[in-house]
Amino acid sequence: MGDYNSQVIMSRVIVVFFAPQELCVFFVVILEGVVKIVEYPYDKWYKAIQVRQSWRQYDGRAVDTDLLLDLSRFLESLNNVYNGVRVILVQESPEDVFKGVIGSYGKIAGAPCYAAFIGNMDDPNVQEKTGYVGELFVLEAASKGLGTCWIAGFFRPETVKKHIELESNEKILSVTPVGYVSKELKSWDKRLMSFLARSRKRKLLVELYNGLEQRKWPQWVKEALECARMAPSAVNRQPWRFYIETNAIAVSVGSTLLEGGVSKRLDCGIAMSHIEIGAGAQGRTGSWEYLASPEVARFKVNS
Ligand SMILES: Cc1cc2nc3c(=O)[nH]c(=O)nc-3n(C[C@H](O)[C@H](O)[C@H](O)COP(=O)(O)O)c2cc1C
Repeated sequence: MGDYNSQVIMSRVIVVFFAPQELCVFFVVILEGVVKIVEYPYDKWYKAIQVRQSWRQYDGRAVDTDLLLDLSRFLESLNNVYNGVRVILVQESPEDVFKGVIGSYGKIAGAPCYAAFIGNMDDPNVQEKTGYVGELFVLEAASKGLGTCWIAGFFRPETVKKHIELESNEKILSVTPVGYVSKELKSWDKRLMSFLARSRKRKLLVELYNGLEQRKWPQWVKEALECARMAPSAVNRQPWRFYIETNAIAVSVGSTLLEGGVSKRLDCGIAMSHIEIGAGAQGRTGSWEYLASPEVARFKVNS
């Protein structure tokens, strides 16, 4: 999980109950002064991976107060997964945050609030860490029946900065609307539906992996890769490639060209969270090691 190092002796263990109605328990340890969640609700997030999709139209209803409280508590733990990466939930309408019609996607409208994904740019792994942490927020929101949509290029950071104070080395890498999804699609949205259906298409697994042949994959590898394939990415480019070993999956970017101004390592961080959840749902936990470009990171399961 994260950069959790099992060699380090745990100095303190705290048990945090932050969503008692879901019987959701997180164990948080303090390692070298950094608080980390070391047990994820894998099954809940595994289900969220199956239902999550990007939503751009919301019904304008305010998010239920208890749900907002749950999400805020969740963020208290999530924001300790990595030093220098944080997710801030802003309870303001994001209408001015998004730049009107976004490329070929259409307008983001009707969301009552939004979240900002912020990274410390001094960290060489800031993109993948932000993708990883941001996606855990997205999946937690999906598990609570809330829609989201990663927006990395087409938003106004200057508007977000009116709501959030940043440290000098911090940057807003992405934002997402948060709200109840609109069930009544307007005609504009209907026209977009065929585009969106196409945009949900995923590359075939055979195009994405190298290493151990498929018939030798343990079940956790199969699940982890299926989950990774379903991860969202900017313009659905799915830049990730996987190298498979019996006890590990390494993630790299297929091409290091910067396309559309959004780092592919951000997308890869999102896929990393899906890999870990897929493995976790099969009862396999492990740890990540960061690698030099064009590789991103390697997830090794505990024996
Ligand atoms: C880093 C990132 C940036 C994205 N930027 C935008 C965006 O600017 N506008 C938009 O409408 N969708 C954006 N998306 C959503 C993708 O288009 C979407 O994830 C992809 O088409 C797959 O569809 P799905 O999320 O419904 O599975 C972004 C997704 C990611 C991960």
